[in-house]
Amino acid sequence: MILDKFPDPEEFYKKYWNKAPFIVRGGVAPEIFDGLLDPESLAGLAMEEDIKSRIVITAPEGKKWVCEHGPFDEDKFAELDGKQWSLLVQNVEQYYTDVSQLLKSFHFSPRWLMDDIMVSYSTAGGSVGPHIDSYHVFLVQGMGRRMWRVGNSPIQNAENIDGQDFKILKNSFDATEVEVSAGDVIYIPPNFAHEGTTTQDAMTFSVGFLGPKISEILSDYGRYVEEKDTLNQMYGGDNIDIRSGSFVIDSQAVSSIKSDLIEVINNDDFSTWLIQYFSTPTHDELDAIEPREDEISSENLIKELKNGGILSRAEHVKLSITKDKNGALKFAVYGEIIPTLTAHEKLIYWLNDYDQITLNDLENLGGVDALIELVTHLYNHNVLCKL
Ligand code: SIN
Ligand code: CO
Repeated sequence: MILDKFPDPEEFYKKYWNKAPFIVRGGVAPEIFDGLLDPESLAGLAMEEDIKSRIVITAPEGKKWVCEHGPFDEDKFAELDGKQWSLLVQNVEQYYTDVSQLLKSFHFSPRWLMDDIMVSYSTAGGSVGPHIDSYHVFLVQGMGRRMWRVGNSPIQNAENIDGQDFKILKNSFDATEVEVSAGDVIYIPPNFAHEGTTTQDAMTFSVGFLGPKISEILSDYGRYVEEKDTLNQMYGGDNIDIRSGSFVIDSQAVSSIKSDLIEVINNDDFSTWLIQYFSTPTHDELDAIEPREDEISSENLIKELKNGGILSRAEHVKLSITKDKNGALKFAVYGEIIPTLTAHEKLIYWLNDYDQITLNDLENLGGVDALIELVTHLYNHNVLCKL
């Protein structure tokens, strides 16, 4: 379970994804943290109204843990002096976009499921207690040191301690113990208990992956169907016969309702909705694709590329790519469909596989003339940036 490098992608999905935790010593180069984000800047985010943050104060044995939600002011931080505490801030990659550079290390994972990077700062003794999460997480250790206990097997029907502000496991669990320092990475699948306790003031970057409930997926798709007249048909009681008279819903009527539902899911629009759904940022404020203030024309962008300019894919922006059942490519960014032509296919898969693009690449991927309009659109909407 303690590895000296990331498993290759095949091994990752076969042995670990959703199955088993692992720890990689030096999974990311510790230099990446130089100037990336300091505890003061994290505290600054926690003072903002729209940013989700919480402070957790470690409870003495058998006592109540304290969890307060932000925004916080300076006095709050002053009150924490001498206590064992953690500050946790969500969606940090959207505010300090350089933090999203960490995602490059996890490009083998299903990036379309990525939720956010939560960053915690904790003082010695700081912890959020033993718990399980419903999502996958890569815990990337920044500054400091933390001792982790990571469950050796998943826990079904976990029981939590009553009367606490948040979920803390009631029962002990069989665990592997490991102390981590800058650059070490722990992968934890859903339902594996874990507990990190800070041994030296620490920052942890939690790269979390969504696990939406099927009910959430159904209700979101249901809302999409509701807005589309072509999909939002009435159930008219077709195929009902004598067996479903009075109060009886015969199996034939049940099957007919089910097949109406399946038809709505089998519609090509399902894949259109799916990529919109998974490319939508989970942060409420960020659900619209932001046009760049300093827009560029295709002509000027070509000039810059000809002068050796390199474009890079913004790591904090989620792309979502699929093919519908006729094999047509569909592409979405920030919850919006980007109309594409067959000629764009190679470029889109290139953007999936690589994070940079040059004029030479465009020539190899189908030619500047065929691609520049899409590239300009992506640049003007902050999906691509100048390196
Ligand atoms: C933390 O950084 O303390 C919390 C991370 C987690 O347990 O998911
Ligand atoms: Co956790």
